[in-house]
Amino acid sequence: MTVNKLEDLRQRKSKIELGGGEKRIADQHEKGKLTARERVNLLFDEGTFVEIDAFVKHRCTNFGLEKVEAPGEGVVTGYGMVEGRLVYVYAQDFTVLGGSLGQMHAQKISKVQDMALKMGAPIVGMNDSGGARIQEGVDALSGYGNIFYRNTIASGVIPQITAIMGPCAGGAVYSPALTDFIFMVDKTSQMFITGPQVIKTVTGEEVTAEALGGGMTHNRTSGVAHFLAPSDEDCITEVRRLLSFLPSNNMETAPIYDTEDDINKIIEELDDIIPESPNKPYDMKQVIEKIADDGDFFEVQPYYATNMITGFIRLNGQSVGIIANQPKVLAGCLDINASDKAGRFIRTCDAFNIPLLNLVDVPGFLPGTSQEYGGIIRHGAKMLYAYSEATVPKITLILRKAYGGAYIAMCCKELGADVVLAWPTAEIAVMGPEGAANIIFRKEIADAEDPQAARAEIIANYKAEFATPYQAAQRGYVDDVIEPSATRPRLIDALNMLASKRETRPPKKHGNLPV
Ligand code: HXC
Repeated sequence: MTVNKLEDLRQRKSKIELGGGEKRIADQHEKGKLTARERVNLLFDEGTFVEIDAFVKHRCTNFGLEKVEAPGEGVVTGYGMVEGRLVYVYAQDFTVLGGSLGQMHAQKISKVQDMALKMGAPIVGMNDSGGARIQEGVDALSGYGNIFYRNTIASGVIPQITAIMGPCAGGAVYSPALTDFIFMVDKTSQMFITGPQVIKTVTGEEVTAEALGGGMTHNRTSGVAHFLAPSDEDCITEVRRLLSFLPSNNMETAPIYDTEDDINKIIEELDDIIPESPNKPYDMKQVIEKIADDGDFFEVQPYYATNMITGFIRLNGQSVGIIANQPKVLAGCLDINASDKAGRFIRTCDAFNIPLLNLVDVPGFLPGTSQEYGGIIRHGAKMLYAYSEATVPKITLILRKAYGGAYIAMCCKELGADVVLAWPTAEIAVMGPEGAANIIFRKEIADAEDPQAARAEIIANYKAEFATPYQAAQRGYVDDVIEPSATRPRLIDALNMLASKRETRPPKKHGNLPV
Protein backbone atom coordinates (compact mmCIF):
# COMPACT_ATOMS: atom_id res chain seq x y z
CA MET A 1 0.00 0.00 0.00
CA THR A 2 1.24 3.46 -0.81
CA VAL A 3 2.33 5.68 2.00
CA ASN A 4 -0.19 8.26 0.76
CA LYS A 5 -3.17 6.01 1.35
CA LEU A 6 -2.06 5.18 4.86
CA GLU A 7 -1.40 8.82 5.58
CA ASP A 8 -4.83 9.71 4.18
CA LEU A 9 -6.51 7.13 6.47
CA ARG A 10 -4.65 8.44 9.51
CA GLN A 11 -5.58 12.01 8.72
CA ARG A 12 -9.22 11.13 8.24
CA LYS A 13 -9.29 9.27 11.55
CA SER A 14 -7.56 11.97 13.54
CA LYS A 15 -9.96 14.58 12.13
CA ILE A 16 -12.91 12.47 13.22
CA GLU A 17 -11.34 11.94 16.63
CA LEU A 18 -11.17 15.69 17.12
CA GLY A 19 -14.98 15.85 16.94
CA GLY A 20 -16.20 19.45 16.88
CA GLY A 21 -12.63 20.78 17.24
CA GLU A 22 -10.42 22.13 19.95
CA LYS A 23 -12.54 25.18 20.79
CA ARG A 24 -15.67 23.11 21.40
CA ILE A 25 -13.70 20.52 23.35
CA ALA A 26 -12.41 23.34 25.56
CA ASP A 27 -16.01 24.59 25.99
CA GLN A 28 -17.09 21.10 27.00
CA HIS A 29 -14.30 20.93 29.62
CA GLU A 30 -15.21 24.44 30.77
CA LYS A 31 -18.69 23.16 31.61
CA GLY A 32 -17.12 20.44 33.78
CA LYS A 33 -17.91 17.73 31.23
CA LEU A 34 -15.65 15.21 29.52
CA THR A 35 -15.85 14.62 25.78
CA ALA A 36 -17.58 11.56 24.35
CA ARG A 37 -14.25 9.89 23.60
CA GLU A 38 -12.83 10.62 27.03
CA ARG A 39 -15.94 9.06 28.57
CA VAL A 40 -15.75 5.96 26.40
CA ASN A 41 -12.08 5.45 27.23
CA LEU A 42 -12.85 5.67 30.95
CA LEU A 43 -15.63 3.12 30.64
CA PHE A 44 -13.53 0.37 29.11
CA ASP A 45 -10.50 -1.56 30.31
CA GLU A 46 -7.47 0.25 28.94
CA GLY A 47 -6.91 -0.11 25.23
CA THR A 48 -9.95 -2.34 24.61
CA PHE A 49 -12.33 0.12 22.92
CA VAL A 50 -13.02 -0.60 19.26
CA GLU A 51 -14.91 2.06 17.35
CA ILE A 52 -17.55 1.28 14.74
CA ASP A 53 -18.95 3.63 12.09
CA ALA A 54 -16.52 6.49 12.64
CA PHE A 55 -16.86 7.43 8.96
CA VAL A 56 -20.66 7.66 8.91
CA LYS A 57 -21.97 11.00 7.61
CA HIS A 58 -25.37 12.64 7.62
CA ARG A 59 -27.23 13.04 4.31
CA CYS A 60 -29.34 16.04 5.21
CA THR A 61 -29.48 18.93 2.76
CA ASN A 62 -32.00 21.08 4.64
CA PHE A 63 -31.17 24.53 6.02
CA GLY A 64 -27.61 24.43 4.69
CA LEU A 65 -26.68 21.33 6.66
CA GLU A 66 -25.06 19.89 3.52
CA LYS A 67 -22.20 22.33 4.11
CA VAL A 68 -21.75 21.28 7.72
CA GLU A 69 -19.17 18.63 8.51
CA ALA A 70 -20.24 16.54 11.46
CA PRO A 71 -17.31 14.28 12.37
CA GLY A 72 -18.54 10.94 13.64
CA GLU A 73 -22.13 12.17 13.13
CA GLY A 74 -22.17 13.45 16.70
CA VAL A 75 -21.99 10.06 18.37
CA VAL A 76 -19.16 7.64 19.17
CA THR A 77 -20.18 3.98 19.01
CA GLY A 78 -18.45 0.65 19.47
CA TYR A 79 -17.52 -2.01 21.98
CA GLY A 80 -14.86 -2.92 24.49
CA MET A 81 -14.22 -4.81 27.71
CA VAL A 82 -15.34 -3.97 31.24
CA GLU A 83 -13.45 -6.17 33.71
CA GLY A 84 -12.80 -8.50 30.82
CA ARG A 85 -16.45 -8.74 29.69
CA LEU A 86 -17.84 -7.49 26.37
CA VAL A 87 -19.94 -4.29 26.59
CA TYR A 88 -21.32 -2.07 23.80
CA VAL A 89 -21.45 1.71 24.01
CA TYR A 90 -22.78 4.81 22.37
CA ALA A 91 -21.70 8.24 23.58
CA GLN A 92 -23.25 11.37 22.12
CA ASP A 93 -20.69 14.03 21.20
CA PHE A 94 -21.98 17.45 22.21
CA THR A 95 -19.09 19.14 20.37
CA VAL A 96 -20.64 18.06 17.06
CA LEU A 97 -23.96 19.80 16.31
CA GLY A 98 -24.75 19.73 20.02
CA GLY A 99 -24.90 15.92 19.97
CA SER A 100 -28.22 16.34 18.17
CA LEU A 101 -29.78 13.18 16.81
CA GLY A 102 -30.26 12.89 13.07
CA GLN A 103 -31.09 9.88 10.94
CA MET A 104 -27.52 8.57 10.61
CA HIS A 105 -26.64 9.36 14.23
CA ALA A 106 -29.64 7.23 15.21
CA GLN A 107 -28.62 4.52 12.76
CA LYS A 108 -25.23 4.28 14.47
CA ILE A 109 -26.93 3.83 17.85
CA SER A 110 -29.39 1.28 16.49
CA LYS A 111 -26.53 -0.72 15.00
CA VAL A 112 -24.78 -1.16 18.36
CA GLN A 113 -28.13 -1.92 19.99
CA ASP A 114 -28.64 -4.72 17.45
CA MET A 115 -25.13 -6.03 18.00
CA ALA A 116 -25.45 -5.97 21.79
CA LEU A 117 -28.69 -7.95 21.59
CA LYS A 118 -27.29 -10.46 19.10
CA MET A 119 -24.11 -10.99 21.08
CA GLY A 120 -25.87 -11.00 24.47
CA ALA A 121 -23.83 -8.18 25.97
CA PRO A 122 -24.80 -5.12 28.02
CA ILE A 123 -25.09 -1.72 26.35
CA VAL A 124 -24.22 1.59 27.97
CA GLY A 125 -25.58 4.84 26.52
CA MET A 126 -24.00 8.18 27.37
CA ASN A 127 -26.42 10.97 26.55
CA ASP A 128 -25.33 14.55 25.97
CA SER A 129 -27.54 16.00 23.27
CA GLY A 130 -29.75 18.87 22.14
CA GLY A 131 -32.30 16.23 21.10
CA ALA A 132 -33.85 15.69 17.69
CA ARG A 133 -31.71 17.44 15.04
CA ILE A 134 -34.10 20.15 14.01
CA GLN A 135 -32.86 20.36 10.39
CA GLU A 136 -33.61 16.68 9.83
CA GLY A 137 -37.27 16.89 10.82
CA VAL A 138 -39.20 13.65 10.74
CA ASP A 139 -36.07 11.63 9.89
CA ALA A 140 -34.77 12.50 13.36
CA LEU A 141 -38.05 11.43 14.96
CA SER A 142 -37.91 8.17 13.01
CA GLY A 143 -34.40 7.65 14.41
CA TYR A 144 -35.71 7.95 17.95
CA GLY A 145 -38.52 5.53 17.17
CA ASN A 146 -35.97 2.96 16.02
CA ILE A 147 -34.00 3.35 19.25
CA PHE A 148 -37.05 3.10 21.55
CA TYR A 149 -38.21 -0.03 19.74
CA ARG A 150 -34.81 -1.68 20.20
CA ASN A 151 -34.70 -0.64 23.87
CA THR A 152 -37.98 -2.44 24.36
CA ILE A 153 -37.09 -5.59 22.46
CA ALA A 154 -33.81 -5.87 24.38
CA SER A 155 -35.51 -5.23 27.74
CA GLY A 156 -34.99 -8.19 30.05
CA VAL A 157 -32.53 -9.80 27.62
CA ILE A 158 -29.41 -7.67 28.06
CA PRO A 159 -28.70 -5.06 30.74
CA GLN A 160 -29.23 -1.55 29.36
CA ILE A 161 -27.70 1.34 31.28
CA THR A 162 -27.95 5.04 30.47
CA ALA A 163 -25.74 7.79 31.83
CA ILE A 164 -27.20 11.27 31.38
CA MET A 165 -24.18 13.55 31.09
CA GLY A 166 -25.64 16.69 29.57
CA PRO A 167 -29.00 17.89 28.27
CA CYS A 168 -31.62 15.27 27.39
CA ALA A 169 -34.86 16.89 26.33
CA GLY A 170 -38.17 16.14 24.70
CA GLY A 171 -39.12 12.62 23.74
CA ALA A 172 -35.40 11.80 23.84
CA VAL A 173 -35.78 11.06 27.55
CA TYR A 174 -37.77 7.95 26.69
CA SER A 175 -34.83 5.87 25.56
CA PRO A 176 -33.21 6.23 29.00
CA ALA A 177 -36.58 5.58 30.63
CA LEU A 178 -36.87 2.30 28.74
CA THR A 179 -33.49 1.10 30.00
CA ASP A 180 -32.83 -0.68 33.30
CA PHE A 181 -30.80 1.97 35.11
CA ILE A 182 -30.30 5.72 34.72
CA PHE A 183 -27.30 7.58 36.09
CA MET A 184 -27.24 11.38 36.19
CA VAL A 185 -24.31 13.71 36.80
CA ASP A 186 -25.06 16.40 39.37
CA LYS A 187 -25.40 19.95 38.00
CA THR A 188 -24.39 19.11 34.42
CA SER A 189 -27.25 16.87 33.29
CA GLN A 190 -30.95 17.48 32.81
CA MET A 191 -33.90 15.44 31.63
CA PHE A 192 -37.30 16.86 30.78
CA ILE A 193 -40.12 16.39 28.31
CA THR A 194 -40.62 20.13 27.91
CA GLY A 195 -38.00 22.68 28.91
CA PRO A 196 -38.37 25.80 31.07
CA GLN A 197 -39.13 28.07 28.07
CA VAL A 198 -42.03 25.96 26.86
CA ILE A 199 -43.41 25.60 30.37
CA LYS A 200 -43.34 29.36 30.83
CA THR A 201 -45.15 29.92 27.54
CA VAL A 202 -47.82 27.27 28.12
CA THR A 203 -48.53 27.46 31.85
CA GLY A 204 -46.74 30.61 32.99
CA GLU A 205 -44.78 28.58 35.53
CA GLU A 206 -41.18 29.68 36.02
CA VAL A 207 -38.58 27.05 36.85
CA THR A 208 -34.86 26.62 36.24
CA ALA A 209 -33.60 23.72 34.13
CA GLU A 210 -31.82 22.31 37.21
CA ALA A 211 -34.92 22.43 39.42
CA LEU A 212 -37.07 21.03 36.63
CA GLY A 213 -34.93 18.14 35.51
CA GLY A 214 -31.53 18.17 37.21
CA GLY A 215 -29.83 15.17 38.75
CA MET A 216 -31.19 15.60 42.26
CA THR A 217 -34.72 16.28 40.98
CA HIS A 218 -34.83 12.94 39.21
CA ASN A 219 -33.03 11.06 41.98
CA ARG A 220 -35.04 12.39 44.89
CA THR A 221 -38.36 13.71 43.60
CA SER A 222 -39.45 11.93 40.43
CA GLY A 223 -37.61 8.63 40.91
CA VAL A 224 -36.80 8.59 37.18
CA ALA A 225 -33.06 8.21 37.87
CA HIS A 226 -31.35 5.55 39.95
CA PHE A 227 -27.95 7.08 40.67
CA LEU A 228 -26.44 10.54 41.10
CA ALA A 229 -22.73 11.12 40.53
CA PRO A 230 -20.73 14.23 41.38
CA SER A 231 -18.70 14.14 38.14
CA ASP A 232 -18.39 12.36 34.80
CA GLU A 233 -15.45 10.34 36.16
CA ASP A 234 -17.40 9.14 39.21
CA CYS A 235 -20.41 8.37 37.08
CA ILE A 236 -18.43 6.08 34.80
CA THR A 237 -16.72 4.36 37.74
CA GLU A 238 -20.17 3.63 39.16
CA VAL A 239 -21.43 2.33 35.82
CA ARG A 240 -18.55 -0.16 35.84
CA ARG A 241 -19.40 -1.10 39.42
CA LEU A 242 -23.05 -1.69 38.53
CA LEU A 243 -22.04 -3.91 35.62
CA SER A 244 -20.05 -6.08 38.06
CA PHE A 245 -23.31 -7.10 39.78
CA LEU A 246 -25.07 -8.00 36.52
CA PRO A 247 -24.76 -10.91 34.10
CA SER A 248 -24.10 -10.18 30.44
CA ASN A 249 -27.57 -11.38 29.49
CA ASN A 250 -30.65 -13.22 30.74
CA MET A 251 -29.18 -16.65 29.97
CA GLU A 252 -26.24 -16.13 32.31
CA THR A 253 -25.66 -15.47 35.98
CA ALA A 254 -23.70 -12.55 37.39
CA PRO A 255 -19.95 -13.10 37.76
CA ILE A 256 -18.75 -14.55 41.06
CA TYR A 257 -16.15 -12.44 42.86
CA ASP A 258 -13.68 -14.08 45.22
CA THR A 259 -14.03 -12.87 48.77
CA GLU A 260 -11.78 -13.16 51.78
CA ASP A 261 -14.79 -12.56 54.00
CA ASP A 262 -15.58 -15.57 56.20
CA ILE A 263 -18.73 -17.35 55.05
CA ASN A 264 -19.28 -18.77 58.55
CA LYS A 265 -18.87 -15.42 60.26
CA ILE A 266 -20.93 -15.00 63.44
CA ILE A 267 -21.87 -11.34 63.82
CA GLU A 268 -22.58 -10.81 67.53
CA GLU A 269 -23.78 -7.19 67.06
CA LEU A 270 -26.83 -8.42 65.17
CA ASP A 271 -28.15 -10.05 68.35
CA ASP A 272 -28.57 -6.56 69.84
CA ILE A 273 -29.45 -4.46 66.80
CA ILE A 274 -33.24 -4.55 67.32
CA PRO A 275 -34.18 -2.00 70.02
CA GLU A 276 -36.16 -3.15 73.08
CA SER A 277 -39.03 -0.82 72.22
CA PRO A 278 -40.92 -1.92 69.11
CA ASN A 279 -41.47 1.72 68.14
CA LYS A 280 -37.81 2.62 68.18
CA PRO A 281 -36.14 2.72 64.79
CA TYR A 282 -32.75 1.37 63.79
CA ASP A 283 -30.82 1.58 60.55
CA MET A 284 -31.52 -1.35 58.25
CA LYS A 285 -28.50 -0.39 56.17
CA GLN A 286 -26.29 -1.43 59.09
CA VAL A 287 -27.79 -4.91 58.96
CA ILE A 288 -27.21 -5.08 55.21
CA GLU A 289 -23.60 -3.97 55.49
CA LYS A 290 -22.89 -6.40 58.30
CA ILE A 291 -24.12 -9.43 56.38
CA ALA A 292 -22.66 -8.45 52.98
CA ASP A 293 -19.28 -9.68 51.74
CA ASP A 294 -16.70 -7.11 52.85
CA GLY A 295 -19.51 -4.81 54.06
CA ASP A 296 -20.05 -3.73 50.45
CA PHE A 297 -23.57 -2.51 49.62
CA PHE A 298 -24.28 -0.90 46.23
CA GLU A 299 -27.50 0.97 46.80
CA VAL A 300 -29.93 1.60 43.94
CA GLN A 301 -32.11 4.74 44.17
CA PRO A 302 -30.61 5.85 47.51
CA TYR A 303 -32.45 9.20 47.44
CA TYR A 304 -35.94 8.06 46.41
CA ALA A 305 -38.63 6.50 48.61
CA THR A 306 -36.08 5.99 51.35
CA ASN A 307 -38.54 3.98 53.45
CA MET A 308 -37.64 1.18 51.02
CA ILE A 309 -34.04 0.14 50.42
CA THR A 310 -32.99 -1.54 47.18
CA GLY A 311 -29.53 -2.51 45.98
CA PHE A 312 -26.93 -5.18 45.47
CA ILE A 313 -24.62 -7.05 47.81
CA ARG A 314 -22.58 -10.19 47.38
CA LEU A 315 -22.85 -13.25 49.57
CA ASN A 316 -19.93 -15.63 49.16
CA GLY A 317 -19.14 -13.76 45.95
CA GLN A 318 -22.62 -14.13 44.46
CA SER A 319 -24.64 -11.07 43.44
CA VAL A 320 -27.86 -10.71 45.47
CA GLY A 321 -30.66 -8.13 45.14
CA ILE A 322 -31.76 -6.59 48.43
CA ILE A 323 -35.29 -5.34 49.06
CA ALA A 324 -35.52 -4.04 52.62
CA ASN A 325 -37.80 -1.89 54.72
CA GLN A 326 -36.09 1.05 56.43
CA PRO A 327 -37.55 1.50 59.95
CA LYS A 328 -35.79 4.88 60.16
CA VAL A 329 -38.07 6.42 57.51
CA LEU A 330 -41.89 6.43 57.87
CA ALA A 331 -41.35 3.50 60.25
CA GLY A 332 -40.65 1.43 57.12
CA CYS A 333 -44.27 1.66 55.89
CA LEU A 334 -45.02 0.72 52.30
CA ASP A 335 -46.38 3.54 50.17
CA ILE A 336 -46.86 4.29 46.49
CA ASN A 337 -43.29 5.30 45.73
CA ALA A 338 -41.76 2.48 47.80
CA SER A 339 -43.95 -0.05 45.98
CA ASP A 340 -42.94 1.29 42.58
CA LYS A 341 -39.28 1.31 43.56
CA ALA A 342 -39.33 -2.24 44.91
CA GLY A 343 -41.55 -3.63 42.15
CA ARG A 344 -39.24 -2.40 39.45
CA PHE A 345 -36.10 -3.63 41.22
CA ILE A 346 -37.56 -7.09 41.86
CA ARG A 347 -38.36 -7.44 38.15
CA THR A 348 -34.89 -6.23 37.14
CA CYS A 349 -33.27 -8.86 39.38
CA ASP A 350 -35.61 -11.59 38.20
CA ALA A 351 -34.95 -10.75 34.54
CA PHE A 352 -31.21 -11.11 35.14
CA ASN A 353 -31.15 -14.19 37.37
CA ILE A 354 -30.14 -12.35 40.53
CA PRO A 355 -31.51 -13.98 43.71
CA LEU A 356 -33.67 -11.81 45.96
CA LEU A 357 -33.12 -11.25 49.67
CA ASN A 358 -36.06 -9.54 51.39
CA LEU A 359 -35.38 -7.99 54.79
CA VAL A 360 -38.68 -7.34 56.51
CA ASP A 361 -39.57 -4.84 59.21
CA VAL A 362 -42.83 -3.33 58.06
CA PRO A 363 -45.77 -2.10 60.15
CA GLY A 364 -48.12 -1.95 57.14
CA PHE A 365 -49.19 0.22 54.24
CA LEU A 366 -49.17 3.97 54.88
CA PRO A 367 -52.74 5.03 55.62
CA GLY A 368 -54.37 8.21 54.27
CA THR A 369 -56.33 9.81 51.47
CA SER A 370 -53.25 10.91 49.54
CA GLN A 371 -52.19 7.28 49.29
CA GLU A 372 -55.66 5.97 48.43
CA TYR A 373 -56.35 8.74 45.88
CA GLY A 374 -52.88 8.21 44.41
CA GLY A 375 -53.73 4.58 43.73
CA ILE A 376 -51.81 2.68 46.41
CA ILE A 377 -53.98 -0.32 45.55
CA ARG A 378 -52.64 -0.38 42.00
CA HIS A 379 -49.07 0.50 42.99
CA GLY A 380 -48.89 -1.89 45.94
CA ALA A 381 -50.17 -4.63 43.64
CA LYS A 382 -46.95 -4.25 41.62
CA MET A 383 -44.97 -5.70 44.51
CA LEU A 384 -47.32 -8.66 44.87
CA TYR A 385 -47.14 -9.22 41.15
CA ALA A 386 -43.37 -8.82 40.88
CA TYR A 387 -42.65 -11.21 43.75
CA SER A 388 -45.15 -13.82 42.58
CA GLU A 389 -43.87 -13.66 39.03
CA ALA A 390 -40.19 -13.90 40.02
CA THR A 391 -38.64 -17.34 39.59
CA VAL A 392 -35.17 -16.57 40.94
CA PRO A 393 -34.28 -17.86 44.43
CA LYS A 394 -36.29 -15.79 46.92
CA ILE A 395 -35.20 -15.60 50.54
CA THR A 396 -37.19 -13.65 53.13
CA LEU A 397 -35.82 -12.74 56.54
CA ILE A 398 -38.28 -11.21 59.01
CA LEU A 399 -36.36 -9.12 61.53
CA ARG A 400 -39.17 -7.45 63.42
CA LYS A 401 -42.62 -6.32 62.26
CA ALA A 402 -44.45 -8.11 59.49
CA TYR A 403 -48.03 -7.00 59.71
CA GLY A 404 -51.06 -7.48 57.49
CA GLY A 405 -50.91 -6.94 53.74
CA ALA A 406 -47.37 -5.65 54.04
CA TYR A 407 -46.27 -9.05 55.45
CA ILE A 408 -47.57 -10.60 52.25
CA ALA A 409 -46.22 -7.82 50.00
CA MET A 410 -42.68 -8.33 51.33
CA CYS A 411 -42.66 -11.87 49.89
CA CYS A 412 -44.14 -14.35 52.30
CA LYS A 413 -44.12 -18.10 51.63
CA GLU A 414 -47.29 -17.94 49.54
CA LEU A 415 -45.79 -15.47 47.05
CA GLY A 416 -43.14 -18.06 46.41
CA ALA A 417 -40.44 -17.35 48.97
CA ASP A 418 -38.24 -20.45 48.89
CA VAL A 419 -36.82 -19.88 52.34
CA VAL A 420 -38.44 -17.78 55.07
CA LEU A 421 -36.35 -17.16 58.16
CA ALA A 422 -37.22 -15.05 61.19
CA TRP A 423 -35.32 -13.57 64.07
CA PRO A 424 -36.78 -14.22 67.55
CA THR A 425 -37.72 -10.51 67.56
CA ALA A 426 -40.15 -11.03 64.66
CA GLU A 427 -43.79 -10.02 65.13
CA ILE A 428 -46.00 -11.62 62.50
CA ALA A 429 -49.72 -10.85 62.71
CA VAL A 430 -52.64 -9.20 60.98
CA MET A 431 -51.92 -5.99 62.86
CA GLY A 432 -49.96 -4.60 65.80
CA PRO A 433 -51.07 -5.32 69.40
CA GLU A 434 -52.54 -1.85 70.06
CA GLY A 435 -54.65 -1.84 66.90
CA ALA A 436 -55.80 -5.41 67.44
CA ALA A 437 -56.82 -4.72 71.07
CA ASN A 438 -58.87 -1.72 69.98
CA ILE A 439 -60.83 -3.77 67.48
CA ILE A 440 -61.35 -7.30 68.75
CA PHE A 441 -61.33 -6.57 72.50
CA ARG A 442 -63.16 -3.24 72.34
CA LYS A 443 -66.18 -4.58 74.23
CA GLU A 444 -64.12 -6.34 76.94
CA ILE A 445 -62.05 -3.21 77.50
CA ALA A 446 -65.14 -0.97 77.66
CA ASP A 447 -66.93 -3.35 80.08
CA ALA A 448 -63.93 -3.79 82.41
CA GLU A 449 -63.87 -2.17 85.82
CA ASP A 450 -60.55 -0.58 84.98
CA PRO A 451 -60.52 -0.24 81.16
CA GLN A 452 -56.96 1.06 81.07
CA ALA A 453 -55.59 -1.89 83.06
CA ALA A 454 -57.68 -4.33 81.03
CA ARG A 455 -56.34 -2.85 77.81
CA ALA A 456 -52.74 -3.11 79.01
CA GLU A 457 -53.26 -6.74 80.01
CA ILE A 458 -54.93 -7.63 76.72
CA ILE A 459 -52.08 -6.00 74.78
CA ALA A 460 -49.48 -7.85 76.86
CA ASN A 461 -51.25 -11.17 76.26
CA TYR A 462 -51.60 -10.47 72.55
CA LYS A 463 -47.91 -9.56 72.31
CA ALA A 464 -46.84 -12.73 74.09
CA GLU A 465 -49.08 -14.92 71.94
CA PHE A 466 -49.10 -13.28 68.51
CA ALA A 467 -46.31 -10.70 68.25
CA THR A 468 -43.73 -13.46 67.85
CA PRO A 469 -42.47 -15.62 64.98
CA TYR A 470 -43.71 -18.84 66.60
CA GLN A 471 -47.34 -18.86 65.42
CA ALA A 472 -46.05 -18.56 61.85
CA ALA A 473 -43.29 -21.12 62.46
CA GLN A 474 -45.79 -23.62 63.96
CA ARG A 475 -47.76 -23.45 60.72
CA GLY A 476 -44.70 -23.71 58.44
CA TYR A 477 -45.03 -20.18 57.08
CA VAL A 478 -41.61 -19.55 58.58
CA ASP A 479 -39.05 -22.30 57.96
CA ASP A 480 -36.86 -21.52 60.92
CA VAL A 481 -36.30 -19.00 63.68
CA ILE A 482 -32.60 -18.21 63.76
CA GLU A 483 -30.16 -16.43 65.99
CA PRO A 484 -29.47 -13.03 64.41
CA SER A 485 -25.71 -13.46 64.85
CA ALA A 486 -25.85 -16.52 62.56
CA THR A 487 -27.65 -14.67 59.75
CA ARG A 488 -24.76 -14.52 57.27
CA PRO A 489 -23.94 -18.25 57.29
CA ARG A 490 -27.65 -19.15 57.18
CA LEU A 491 -28.25 -16.90 54.16
CA ILE A 492 -25.20 -18.24 52.34
CA ASP A 493 -26.34 -21.77 53.08
CA ALA A 494 -29.83 -21.00 51.73
CA LEU A 495 -28.36 -19.49 48.55
CA ASN A 496 -26.19 -22.56 47.99
CA MET A 497 -29.17 -24.84 48.53
CA LEU A 498 -31.25 -22.81 46.03
CA ALA A 499 -28.54 -22.63 43.37
CA SER A 500 -30.20 -25.31 41.21
CA LYS A 501 -33.72 -23.83 41.52
CA ARG A 502 -35.78 -24.16 38.35
CA GLU A 503 -39.35 -22.93 38.24
CA THR A 504 -41.51 -22.48 35.17
CA ARG A 505 -44.69 -20.51 34.61
CA PRO A 506 -47.57 -21.31 32.25
CA PRO A 507 -46.83 -20.12 28.69
CA LYS A 508 -48.38 -16.74 27.90
CA LYS A 509 -47.74 -13.77 25.65
CA HIS A 510 -46.98 -11.67 28.70
CA GLY A 511 -48.56 -10.99 32.03
CA ASN A 512 -50.57 -7.88 32.77
CA LEU A 513 -48.59 -6.07 35.45
CA PRO A 514 -50.75 -3.35 37.03
CA VAL A 515 -48.58 -0.50 35.64
C1 HXC B 1 -29.74 20.94 15.79
C2 HXC B 1 -28.74 21.71 17.68
C3 HXC B 1 -29.79 21.18 18.48
C4 HXC B 1 -30.83 20.51 17.81
C5 HXC B 1 -28.38 22.12 19.77
N1 HXC B 1 -27.91 22.28 18.54
N2 HXC B 1 -29.53 21.46 19.76
N3 HXC B 1 -28.73 21.59 16.37
N4 HXC B 1 -30.77 20.40 16.48
N5 HXC B 1 -31.84 19.95 18.48
C6 HXC B 1 -26.69 22.95 18.15
C7 HXC B 1 -26.76 24.45 18.35
O1 HXC B 1 -27.36 25.10 17.26
C8 HXC B 1 -25.30 24.80 18.49
O2 HXC B 1 -24.72 24.87 17.22
C9 HXC B 1 -24.70 23.60 19.18
O3 HXC B 1 -25.64 22.54 18.97
C10 HXC B 1 -24.54 23.80 20.66
O4 HXC B 1 -25.76 24.30 21.19
P1 HXC B 1 -25.81 25.59 22.13
O5 HXC B 1 -27.22 26.03 22.15
O6 HXC B 1 -24.79 26.57 21.70
O7 HXC B 1 -25.35 24.97 23.52
P2 HXC B 1 -25.88 25.31 24.97
O8 HXC B 1 -25.93 26.79 25.15
O9 HXC B 1 -25.04 24.51 25.89
O10 HXC B 1 -27.38 24.80 25.02
C11 HXC B 1 -27.66 23.42 24.87
C12 HXC B 1 -29.18 23.19 24.71
C13 HXC B 1 -29.73 24.08 23.59
C14 HXC B 1 -29.87 23.53 26.05
C15 HXC B 1 -29.38 21.72 24.45
O11 HXC B 1 -28.90 23.90 22.42
C16 HXC B 1 -31.14 23.73 23.23
O12 HXC B 1 -32.06 24.17 23.91
N6 HXC B 1 -31.30 23.01 22.11
C17 HXC B 1 -32.62 22.65 21.65
C18 HXC B 1 -33.21 21.63 22.56
C19 HXC B 1 -34.52 21.11 22.05
O13 HXC B 1 -35.57 21.74 22.20
N7 HXC B 1 -34.45 20.01 21.27
C20 HXC B 1 -35.56 19.41 20.68
C21 HXC B 1 -36.19 18.58 21.79
S1 HXC B 1 -37.55 17.72 21.20
P3 HXC B 1 -23.70 26.04 16.80
O14 HXC B 1 -23.21 25.61 15.48
O15 HXC B 1 -24.49 27.28 16.76
O16 HXC B 1 -22.67 26.05 17.87
C22 HXC B 1 -36.93 16.30 20.77
C23 HXC B 1 -37.94 15.41 20.22
C24 HXC B 1 -37.51 14.00 20.38
O17 HXC B 1 -35.81 16.01 20.91
C25 HXC B 1 -38.67 13.18 20.03
C26 HXC B 1 -38.41 11.76 20.28
C27 HXC B 1 -39.67 10.98 20.07
